[in-house]
Amino acid sequence: MNYIYHLAKRFFTSLARRDVSGAELTTVRSKLSAHEYELWLQFAIADRRHSVLVAARFTALRPDAPDNEIAGVLLHDIGKISSNLSTLQRVVATIVGPRTKRFALYHQHEEIGADMLRRAGSHSEVIAMVNQTCSADAADAFRAADNI
Ligand SMILES: [Fe+2]
Repeated sequence: MNYIYHLAKRFFTSLARRDVSGAELTTVRSKLSAHEYELWLQFAIADRRHSVLVAARFTALRPDAPDNEIAGVLLHDIGKISSNLSTLQRVVATIVGPRTKRFALYHQHEEIGADMLRRAGSHSEVIAMVNQTCSADAADAFRAADNI
């Protein structure tokens, strides 16, 4: 039930269409490499906002987190940019599970994201956040930050 609520909230938040602030963008830029930032800029507005929000929660839960972990959190959904689903289609894809090829692609986004970052030359700690092979403490803080 919580999960559906989270999805519904994401959907309605995405309707607001307000982009992240200039200050938030500066913070994002400071945590990412040039290649990572290029990828991050390809996020849809709703995903940019989600990225910044989850990173802020993560940092609050884990104040000593190294920049590589924060970069990984900012990029945790980056695999989504390879799938051209609209927000509503994403909500449907998440509820009904993999069906069409495009929907399946969306479900593999963690793996796709990790691959993209490998190709972009990201640090292994950044990639470990994206595919959740990081430390248990970092993974717990990330999941809590991503699921509120
Ligand atoms: Fe997320």
